Amino acid sequence: MTVATAPGKAILFGEHAVVYGRPAIAVPVAEVQARAEVEDAPAGAGITIVARDLGRTIHLRHVKPGDREALALARTVRNALERLGHRSEPDLHITISSSVPIGRGLGSGAAVATALVRALTAHLGGYLTSREISDLVYQTEILHHGTPSGIDNTVIAFGKPIFFVKGQRDDVFWPGRPFWLVIGDTGVSSPTREVVADVRRGWEADPVGYEAHFDAIAAIVEDARRAIIDGNLPALGRLMDDNQRELEAIGVSSPELETLIGAAREAGALGAKLSGAGRGGNMIALVEDDTRGQVRLALMAAGARNVIVTRVS
Ligand code: MEV
Repeated sequence: MTVATAPGKAILFGEHAVVYGRPAIAVPVAEVQARAEVEDAPAGAGITIVARDLGRTIHLRHVKPGDREALALARTVRNALERLGHRSEPDLHITISSSVPIGRGLGSGAAVATALVRALTAHLGGYLTSREISDLVYQTEILHHGTPSGIDNTVIAFGKPIFFVKGQRDDVFWPGRPFWLVIGDTGVSSPTREVVADVRRGWEADPVGYEAHFDAIAAIVEDARRAIIDGNLPALGRLMDDNQRELEAIGVSSPELETLIGAAREAGALGAKLSGAGRGGNMIALVEDDTRGQVRLALMAAGARNVIVTRVS
């Protein structure tokens, strides 16, 4: 049996604006993981995928056209097989499980697809670079999200903090000083596809206003990159607050997110904002060594469904 994993991700700066060509910064979150196991199946069995978290067993040969979940997994497997030079379908039993919560902005779809591509590649004796894996997973992201920027598949496949601009060479970078993030889950599921489509409608109705917000976000991202490289955490926290204000202005925040963001700031976080598509999902707070415990407790007291503490280095 061959096993592979992939981490979740958090967007630090620049979500939504990144879809419109502005830069963004994202980090892997190793505390949540997707896992894929691949083993040989009896001759003639074809490919079966047991998706534990979805409670489903999917036979690749019998996927129905309207079944988006199954189609995304089938597309991932078929694209990977084609890329690895397999003309016919091998007989494989695949099991997928994931602790990356679905629809909460932590990259669940890209994490599952990345683990799946890695496990298939290793099991079939192939080799793919992180870039090639990321490109394959991007094809699956299109099924999940419609018009993805590609940031999720990139940060998850590379497993390093990245500075990302759609369609350009990705830039992996190292913080000048490691820092801690506390990630709080509102418990509200929010499909990225819908929020991205709403932003698109807003942009179509008021292109000048939205472009100005995206430009403001781009300037924040550039300053944040500098602050991360310099290890200037107070500046980084202020920039998170600035980015949150812009995200509120384009209508992707929510009362649940703002309750958690307010609680984190009151408990001593250096800054806080939503992360990912917004409307629900997760928020992130930048904390110091001596405040991370109290911010975690404050988020739980404010109603967070789950809290993750992760170190970015
Ligand atoms: C989703 O993780 C981030 C968004 O910017 C969408 C995208 O980049 O594809 C909201």
